[in-house]
Amino acid sequence: MSKPRGSWGSQLGFILAAAGSAIGLGNIWRFPYMTGENGGAAFVVIYIVCVIIIGLPIMVAELAIGRHTEKNPVGAFQKLAPRSGWFLVGLLGVVTGIGILSYYAVIAGWTVGYLVKTLTGSFSVQMTPETSKEIFTSFVKHPLNSIICLFAFLALTAYVVIGGVSKGIERWSKILMPTLFIMLILLTLRSVTLPGAVAGLKFYLQPDFTAISLTTFAKALGQALFSLSLGMGAMITYGSYIRKEENLPISAAWVCLSDLSVALIAGLMIFPALFAMGINPQEGAGLVFVVLPTIFAKIPGGLIFGSGFFLLLVVAALTSTISLLEVVVAFLVDQYRWSRRKAVVSMSALAFLLGIPSALSFGASTWFSQLPLIGKGFLDLANIILGNYSLIFGSLLIAIFVSYKWGLQAVEKEVMREGNVFYFRITWAFLIRYITPFAILAIFVYIIVTKNYF
Ligand code: PHE
Repeated sequence: MSKPRGSWGSQLGFILAAAGSAIGLGNIWRFPYMTGENGGAAFVVIYIVCVIIIGLPIMVAELAIGRHTEKNPVGAFQKLAPRSGWFLVGLLGVVTGIGILSYYAVIAGWTVGYLVKTLTGSFSVQMTPETSKEIFTSFVKHPLNSIICLFAFLALTAYVVIGGVSKGIERWSKILMPTLFIMLILLTLRSVTLPGAVAGLKFYLQPDFTAISLTTFAKALGQALFSLSLGMGAMITYGSYIRKEENLPISAAWVCLSDLSVALIAGLMIFPALFAMGINPQEGAGLVFVVLPTIFAKIPGGLIFGSGFFLLLVVAALTSTISLLEVVVAFLVDQYRWSRRKAVVSMSALAFLLGIPSALSFGASTWFSQLPLIGKGFLDLANIILGNYSLIFGSLLIAIFVSYKWGLQAVEKEVMREGNVFYFRITWAFLIRYITPFAILAIFVYIIVTKNYF
């Protein structure tokens, strides 16, 4: 006897859970440093365009596939295109999901470590950017630190996912997401009122279009898909728990809008503070961990703001790792009738093992820190392959699938069930058929040919 599938208790519950998946380290850690490295405001403008003309249409498509089939990504493609190779798109998603989880949880683990460090007063008043960098490097270099933090984060994720859809994921998202919004706003207010914040606002808000190139587009697209959790079936899985009477395009729009606003506000929180402290915005991936503690050490109430900030990162990352784990759990529960508990425990254990090379790739092991022939660390490489190439490729195939295989009318029928209105139906159909797949294809070919992400 198979148990009935879970479903979200309410539309708000779904929106918060899906926004929780989307909003994560991608918004608060990755978006600001990508913006810093790729020219500031001009990058932000291109990013917004990518979210609207590529992200939003794919979000609607993924949710429709999920709700129509009520299945995990593999089962969904099998149901819509039986006896064909399309299920491989779902399988690629499941594999990508567990792969992303394995390295994402490493960085998420650092946020827990940094929260503890801040609370225990490791960041003293005299701290300079140099000492902060030293603290960071020795923290991530310590093999046991990283591995324990990775383990802790995956255990936390597993605990929530074992609870199931409405009693686990939805209930926690309803508490965690509003907490996140409130902390983000408070920290942003603090940052923009620092003396010297205006230069940061200028860098962030005044576009200089001479600095952009095709590469900027490629990076903005990769960032948008990663940030919206698209291209690997997370939204197919979450969509499969939506009740038939909910309006999909409205839900999709809310998720995209909240994800975009959190990224934009995160920039507003970080750049003014950076410029106020006279620090270079091109600091790279260490931005959050190296630079912000120096700021917290200097401002009044730094302990509170600092712990608030790292708690914010923990919360944001947790609602994302939950969705990454849920994709593979739904796959095993649907396809192989595993119990939820067995799927959660074994897959988090797998993510833990797969995450160890990433956790050791910041100096703990020379081999993983600089892979032979490639010259990059293991985590960097995993992020390029899974977090960029695979999501771009997966999104391309999903756009092609709904436009040219399953069919736009089938999507329209799914959206308009129970008398729902499909807002912007014609625009959506035009984008997903003629713009989204070709724009992604062009960028995909470009990054393959120029090896731009390497
Ligand atoms: N969207 C998440 C973030 O921005 C990461 C993620 C990617 C989650 C893909 C699920 C699927 O942090």
